[in-house]
Amino acid sequence: MSQPGLFSRRGALMTALALPLGAGLGAGSSLPAGASSARQAGGAKVLVAYYTRTGNTRVIARQISRALRADLFEIRTVDPYPEDYEQQVAVAEQQRVSGFEPPLAATVPDIKSCETVFLGFPIWGMTAPSVIRSFLATHDLSGKTLVPFITHGGYGLGVSFR
Ligand SMILES: Cc1cc2nc3c(=O)[nH]c(=O)nc-3n(C[C@H](O)[C@H](O)[C@H](O)COP(=O)(O)O)c2cc1C
Repeated sequence: MSQPGLFSRRGALMTALALPLGAGLGAGSSLPAGASSARQAGGAKVLVAYYTRTGNTRVIARQISRALRADLFEIRTVDPYPEDYEQQVAVAEQQRVSGFEPPLAATVPDIKSCETVFLGFPIWGMTAPSVIRSFLATHDLSGKTLVPFITHGGYGLGVSFR
């Protein structure tokens, strides 16, 4: 979705990392308060859960995981999305409009022990993919610190945080 010459893949990734993390963590901070120290002091876990189709979000997820020594969890659907891009756009749009929540191939074991959850996803149709709603519906995140992060093709956050 980026325009050649105006928005490189690397540029899109770096912009995406800077914007959503800044939004999620608050101006001036680079890590969520207590995320790494809580893990060191009390053993409370930090989890980086992410959905990716073409790998961009996985790159960011791994960087966060490495920096915070956090566990990684890749969100997968039971039924994979179509390989063909146009078909995938159509399926994603149909799921968004209908509110369908695609079943997950697996859930996070022992989500209760996670104090902070980073949740990463690509922007699809100006919002989060439906699989992210599936994730939120099947994991009780109440009382946890949720830090969303995204990658996108150049059009920004859209309404994904809502
Ligand atoms: C179905 C679909 C819809 C997309 N919609 C948008 C969009 O609305 N805005 C945008 O900036 N990028 C959009 N993109 C581009 C992706 O957000 C971008 O390539 C992202 O980095 C892909 O992440 P991934 O490699 O982790 O799957 C879309 C991509 C797909 C496949």
